[in-house]
Amino acid sequence: MIEFTLNGRQVRTEAEADTPLLWVIRDEFDLKGTKYGCGVAMCGACTVHIDGNAYRSCSYMVGQVAGKSVTTIEALDNHPLQQAWIEEQVPQCGYCQSGQIMQAATLLEANPNPSEQDIVNHMSTNYCRCMAYVRIKKAIQRAAT
Ligand code: FES
Repeated sequence: MIEFTLNGRQVRTEAEADTPLLWVIRDEFDLKGTKYGCGVAMCGACTVHIDGNAYRSCSYMVGQVAGKSVTTIEALDNHPLQQAWIEEQVPQCGYCQSGQIMQAATLLEANPNPSEQDIVNHMSTNYCRCMAYVRIKKAIQRAAT
């Protein structure tokens, strides 16, 4: 049995330790905001926070989160980024957006007033097939102000 904190709540799972965290979050705890894109830690759609840092849950095994704190997009309800995303009308298909917001949240946590280049650098590992990058950047700038 593996125990960890999920969105502030102590949880336990019987999943095998080498099960990707993504599937435990989605299938066992029914938190569907975290998405499967590539499955090989390339696209960022599955980004969650583990002890406050952004990680790819498709490639992070649930056994590695024992005793740690996992945060998913569902816990960022009413986050300034969420409002900024709405105001800038960021999503097109929307599929990658929860991962984008989770990635952006770690930037603002570490650097509340990032430069444009800071944003580009921090977000460069999260892909958006609709090419919403300009709106993503604007939303992060809006949330930072
Ligand atoms: Fe995890 Fe693409 S699904 S990085």
